[in-house]
Amino acid sequence: MYSQFLNNDAPAKIRSLLSKEVCDILLKIGNFADKKSLHVFAVGGFVRDLILNKPNFDIDIVVEGDAKSFVTELASEFNAEFKIFDRFHTAKIYSENINFDFSSSRKEMYEYPGALPDVSFSNIYDDMFRRDFTINAMALSLNSDNLFKIIDYFGGIKDLEARIIRVIHKKSFEDDPTRLYRALRFAHRFGFEFDEETNYLFKQAIKDKRVSSLSVKRVASEISKIFKENLPGTIIEQLTKNRMLKHFAQNVKIPPIEPIGVENILSADLEAVYWICFLSQMPPTFKSETIDQLGLPHSSRVKILDGLDAFKKIPNALEELTCQDHIKLYYLLKKHCIEGLLALCYFKLNKINSEKIVYYLKNLRLIAPLISGKDLIDNDIPAGQHIKNILNYITELRLENKSLSKLEELEIAKQLYSNIQHKNSFQRHL
Ligand code: CTP
Repeated sequence: MYSQFLNNDAPAKIRSLLSKEVCDILLKIGNFADKKSLHVFAVGGFVRDLILNKPNFDIDIVVEGDAKSFVTELASEFNAEFKIFDRFHTAKIYSENINFDFSSSRKEMYEYPGALPDVSFSNIYDDMFRRDFTINAMALSLNSDNLFKIIDYFGGIKDLEARIIRVIHKKSFEDDPTRLYRALRFAHRFGFEFDEETNYLFKQAIKDKRVSSLSVKRVASEISKIFKENLPGTIIEQLTKNRMLKHFAQNVKIPPIEPIGVENILSADLEAVYWICFLSQMPPTFKSETIDQLGLPHSSRVKILDGLDAFKKIPNALEELTCQDHIKLYYLLKKHCIEGLLALCYFKLNKINSEKIVYYLKNLRLIAPLISGKDLIDNDIPAGQHIKNILNYITELRLENKSLSKLEELEIAKQLYSNIQHKNSFQRHL
């Protein structure tokens, strides 16, 4: 089926699979490389997914030459936004929905297993040879003389066809043990199996404790990628089985998520939800400072810490409440981000308590006064703590199902403020 991508008419087939937007940009890149007499290729996951006919908007481009100056000139000719990453000799061009990452074709040498590699410029063969698996080591030529021809030195197409994950060389896992995690992730995503030698090398690398040479940050980055997959719990189970979570805990479980009927009204960061479940299972010896070393984006870190706090505080407090306790439920749950609340429902609470959170998310979470602090100030109520108190009071009325117009809320606010003033002047006279 996929062997057609090695025939003479493969370029036409490839073109038919590309969206017009991507095709136009790839043609521009290829034409520009022709003018500069450089070879240029789309590579890696983009080529794999193109053959599998799966969308992929992260396009890696390899230039046989200096990618930084290539991108600087290309971007100025096409008036595109770009960024150069000096340390890695890579560059990024920003297009509306598609990411283009450019790098120079290179060779990698690993000083010791698990180290970050020493890099030197080389040709496309070496660049493909340094990669993880055959299915990720194909290149799509973009120059006009070989336009859209697939370069497949290691049998990637054959392995896609045979549904196999195969390392390119014997030292692959030793060079970069993050590939142990990647191997399980790709096998899970595509429903592929390891080939016999890869399976042997995988087991050998586990036996040799290659995972121990990785930093907690590099393992966390692989776990984050796993959390983006469908049913990540199955991969986490395999990590546990192969003792690949030693930086965290011996045994972690991520049960499949049963939707609770709020998913379409909330836009939650699912990766953070999984991290909350994962980290809530750490043993007492796990240091909370480690969470700062995971290299997670700040916004996710904040949600995860909040979610872990919710895991400690909410279950007991919820036992005391019913769905009718609107005000108490609101104040208990409002403090926490939706990721923590969802993680509680998916992974921790029983059905009865989970329903209380669902009730809150559906009916109470967005309750707020129609008037704002500014409305109060515009109505001669001076700024101060009492504004917050007045707005809270009106929120509570709404939580008690009182239906109020904006005008009625304003009247109540004025009345409250006048009460506060009288009380203060009364207290002053005491
Ligand atoms: N790669 C590698 N070894 C690694 C990481 C990446 O050889 N440890 C190579 C592979 O050729 C991979 C490419 O770099 O295809 C890009 O890496 P990444 O974006 O992580 O992988 P994708 O294959 O694009 O995977 P995904 O579909 O998950 O984005």
